[in-house]
Amino acid sequence: MIRVAIDGPAGVGKSSTSKALAEHYGYAYLDTGAMYRACAWWCIRSGLDLDAEDLDAQAITEAVGDFFTGGHARFGVDPKDPVVESDGRDIRDEIRSHDVSSHVSTVSSIIPVRHVLIAAQRAIIAQESDAESFSHGTGIVVEGRDITTVVAPDAEVRVLLTAREDVRQARRSGQKSAGVGQDDVAARDHADSTVTSFLSAADGVTTVDNSDLTFQQTLDALIALVDAAI
Ligand code: C5P
Repeated sequence: MIRVAIDGPAGVGKSSTSKALAEHYGYAYLDTGAMYRACAWWCIRSGLDLDAEDLDAQAITEAVGDFFTGGHARFGVDPKDPVVESDGRDIRDEIRSHDVSSHVSTVSSIIPVRHVLIAAQRAIIAQESDAESFSHGTGIVVEGRDITTVVAPDAEVRVLLTAREDVRQARRSGQKSAGVGQDDVAARDHADSTVTSFLSAADGVTTVDNSDLTFQQTLDALIALVDAAI
């Protein structure tokens, strides 16, 4: 079983590259950012005030706990079709909205919320490691902000995917014209970096800076790292 952990800031192309990497090897794929986004979506939908100055962290944590343990949330691991569902409803488009993007850091900065998600992510990774139940080959690509450091620090391959801020902002603007909600990546990175460490590589983590690389060159760099580990 090969676990590939990929961290990095917003707009670096983590999702598209990680998905392509998983497809290349026939591995499972887990987008942990989508999990945090789905939690923010769930909280907004539950009527919780994520703009309040005296944020009700306990109510948010309870709502997130209910989202998972109440069986509402479902996250697929097929890189060709990574479904994100709430009570059977496909919420993949809604979790990319401006409303969710601008509130997700508020939710993900609550430490007890992170504990719920870290446990859920480890359970998905463990399930894929179980020879009886794995659905995709013999590996999983997991991407996020704290995968190389917290969720799976013992992963066989650990990568920090990064790029200059101007490049990342330009990539997100491109996505915006492709229908993705407006997203201030610098503000999000700033908020996120108070609770997760993805701006520099931890010990044993390989940095891939793709500022001047094409999509294919980035993918090839990751394939070389996985090939060296298998
Ligand atoms: O990867 P993406 O940009 O979709 O992530 C959305 C948000 O989810 C991040 O801005 C961050 O607040 C949160 N996140 C996190 N830890 C992760 C993955 C995402 O806190 N492992």
